[in-house]
This record gives sequence, C-alpha cells and structure tokens, in this order.
Amino acid sequence: MQQASHSTPPAGTVKRGHIIVIGNEKGGSGKTTTGMHLIIGLLRLGFRVGSMDIDARQRSLTRYIENRKMTIAKEATPLPLPSHIVVNKSPYNIQEETEEDERDRFTRALAKLLVTCDFVVIDSPGNDTYLSRLAHSFADTVITPVNDSFVDLDVLASVDGLTLQVQKPSIYSEMLWEQKLQRARRDGGSIDWIVMRNRLSNLDARNKRQISKVMEELTKRLGFRQAPGFSERVIFRELFLLGLTVLDVLETTKSGSLSMSHLAARQEVRDLLKTLRIPSVDARIAQVRAGQKGDPITDPRIAPKSTPAKAEAAEPSASSSPSVATPEPATSAA
Ligand SMILES: Nc1ncnc2c1ncn2[C@@H]1O[C@H](COP(=O)(O)OP(=O)(O)O)[C@@H](O)[C@H]1O
Ligand SMILES: [Mg+2]
Repeated sequence: MQQASHSTPPAGTVKRGHIIVIGNEKGGSGKTTTGMHLIIGLLRLGFRVGSMDIDARQRSLTRYIENRKMTIAKEATPLPLPSHIVVNKSPYNIQEETEEDERDRFTRALAKLLVTCDFVVIDSPGNDTYLSRLAHSFADTVITPVNDSFVDLDVLASVDGLTLQVQKPSIYSEMLWEQKLQRARRDGGSIDWIVMRNRLSNLDARNKRQISKVMEELTKRLGFRQAPGFSERVIFRELFLLGLTVLDVLETTKSGSLSMSHLAARQEVRDLLKTLRIPSVDARIAQVRAGQKGDPITDPRIAPKSTPAKAEAAEPSASSSPSVATPEPATSAA
C-alpha cells in the first residue's frame, strides 16, 4: 500500500480502511469481548485501528478503552490504543429526523476514522436499532459471536428441536441479507459474514456435536463462514476493568503471568484474525514469524515494529506506523 501512494491509482481501485462490524441481536453473546480482542490484536500487528461504539446504552467498549487509558496512566505502561468514537442516539422524536440525524452522526464518525485507520471495528448493541442496521450496511466483514447453546443459535435461524432441521432464517439473518443488498446497491461491495461460536466448553460434548451439525447446515443455508471461536476462559473477561486483554499480559505489573490457558487464548485470537482472510493481516503475522522476532499475538513482549511488508500492497491501506504508547487518541462522541 505504500507503493500505491506514489502513483495515482486507477479510478475505483482506491483502498480504504477495512470495516468490521460485530453484530448479534442478542445481549451477552460476546460482541464486546470479541471486539476488544480484535482491536488489540490488530493494533499489536502494527495496524492503525479505529473503534466505534454504537451501543450507546451499554457503552461497554467505551468503558474498556477508558479503563485501558487509566492503566496506561497509572502504570506508565505503553500500550497500543485505537482512535475511539462513540456514536450517540439521536435526541429527536420523529422517526425521519432521528434517522437522518443518526445517519449523519454515523457517516461523519466513520469518515473521520477512515482518514487515518487501516481498520475500523464497530461494536453494536444487542437489539435491532437504526444505527445498527446502518453500520451493518457499511461492513466489509460482519462477525457474529454466538454463545454455544441452542438458545443462542436462535439468533441465526429457527431449528426443529426433534429433527434438528433448519426451518427459517431469523430476523437478524434477514436483516443482514437486506444490508448486503444495501451495500451492493451503494458501492457494489459485498459483506463477508463470519459466525463465531463463543464460550465453547468441553463439558457437554453431545450438545457441542449437535450444535456443530446445525451450524454446518446453517452455513449452507445462510451463506456465512465459520470461525473456530473462543473457549469459555476466565482470561477473556478478568482483565476488563484494567482495560487489558490476554494480549497485554506481562506488559503491566497487574495482569499476572502467562499460563497454558493464556497461550491457548492468544492462539484463539490469532485464529480469529486469520479467519478474516485479509492479505495484509496474514502478511504481518507471517512477516513477524519469518523474522523470528516472536509473535506479537503470542508474545506480548514484542512491540509491533512496523516496516510494512511489500506483500501488503493488497487491502487494507496499512501504511501506518503503529499507534503504540501514545496517550492519544482521545475518545470523542458523535
Ligand atoms: N469466551 C468467553 N469466556 C468467558 N467469558 C466470556 C467469554 N465471552 C464473553 N464472556 C463474558 O460474557 C459476558 C457477555 O459478554 P459481552 O462481550 O459483554 O457480550 P455482548 O457485548 O454481546 O453483550 C461478559 O461478562 C463477558 O466477560
Ligand atoms: Mg456489548
């Protein structure tokens, strides 16, 4: 992508930042947890990352980033930070005005992040809102974390309890289909939908097998790809108040030392990054590995030193040096 900046690319080939929306119309399915790990994983690969919180009621991602800033200040520890924007709901009452106002806030915030960021990760609420639908329609990738139970699979489709046959797509799946059409109409682009099983546990092997079977069926019916998923692990939640993730352990005095579970969790985050199938992400992972400098995802002591690989001429436009250690950028609201 650095090469691209030296010459004028032909019309229509300009690469902009890659937009990832984390969505599932169910609270507690792991959207914010997935978003946090994705953001820090991308930052640690040396990308410039923007984050957007459109779950203005819960604001969990925003709190996580505020916690992270506090840890940076208290511990005087350099940690990578995203540029973060909260998009608030409109104060208007009339639907048309509300939607116009929210569309305006959202598109301005997105444009602002896209000026400087290689990736924008958007955390959405656990219910159907105008802002959420709008965000989905701008996505290059949608990641839907689903808790590993039939209760939660319901967000994708209804399934016959006896035969395990898929009966009909859920409202969320239909909404996503509609946003795919919106996206195609707007700029001819497409949305890559990834469903990620979350909180996997070995305790109920039968349930796990049955869900795998239904997921296979759903993959064909609904047209998503499956990510390997995150296991149920304390490390995925215990560092929230410090604004840290398993990718930061060892860098701060508070976050403890590495266990086997930590290493396995890091591997799960890396597997998620690979599932994105984005050439520049794969190139950075390979680049660090080839240099035998350690893996920024599995070895937290390696600060991302960003000399972008030539292979990264593909999307997204990661021309950046990493945003490590600076107490920027401030959280702002739109
Ligand atoms: N893989 C996991 N292992 C352990 N706890 C998890 C995992 N994923 C999510 N959680 C916990 O589940 C709860 C809901 O997750 P959260 O990311 O806030 O979901 P959402 O944003 O979809 O509402 C939180 O307490 C979070 O820490
Ligand atoms: Mg959330």
